[in-house]
Amino acid sequence: MEIKYYGHSCFSVKAGGKTLLFDPFIKGNPLAAGIDIKDIHADYILISHGHHDHTDDALEIAKNCNSTIISVFEIAEWAKKNGCDKTVSMNTGGSREFDFGMVKLVNAVHSSSFKDGTYAGNPVGFVINDGEKTFYFAGDTSLCHDMKMIPERYKLDFAFLPIGSNFTMDVEDAVKAAEYLQCNTIIGMHYDTEEKIKIDHDEARRNFNSRGRLLMLFKIGESFEL
Ligand code: NI
Ligand code: MN
Repeated sequence: MEIKYYGHSCFSVKAGGKTLLFDPFIKGNPLAAGIDIKDIHADYILISHGHHDHTDDALEIAKNCNSTIISVFEIAEWAKKNGCDKTVSMNTGGSREFDFGMVKLVNAVHSSSFKDGTYAGNPVGFVINDGEKTFYFAGDTSLCHDMKMIPERYKLDFAFLPIGSNFTMDVEDAVKAAEYLQCNTIIGMHYDTEEKIKIDHDEARRNFNSRGRLLMLFKIGESFEL
């Protein structure tokens, strides 16, 4: 799968011949100043929760690309109300087949509201399988025992986990999450964007390494294959 990092928790993943974009937050991210959202292509936009650092550019990219937004009911309704015709409304525990593969919504322990304070449903993570590979995009979450249920059903090839602390779990908890998920390849997200979530990259990598796992940290704009 070809993956590209757009900063914070925003990644695109080519799965099943389609481009999936997760949690678009680019214009408001000073670290992603080199990215022009007009250059981003997305067949699908998957949104984990309503916070602005996961939704800010979703509507504009969806309109530019005629993307389909996949999220919880409340976020799908918000997108519809704001002029996005193609939305798929799901909720925690639900799974669904798409033309690129399967999407399952799993629990995330966090909160979820829009910028104006209105309710955005429950936060979620996604498990995706395109027939070849399976991965987990955790969204914003703390470490939780629910993560142990994922490998009971799915064999993960890699997982996107938040590691910046303050709003989500930190590196230490993400190492434990990787153990719960039985997953050896972790892509870090939700770090360095602001002072509160700055991390020491080498120390974080060493922390994973010492437990026999790989932490991948990418430069914004970098593409890689997994
Ligand atoms: Ni959040
Ligand atoms: Mn966040």
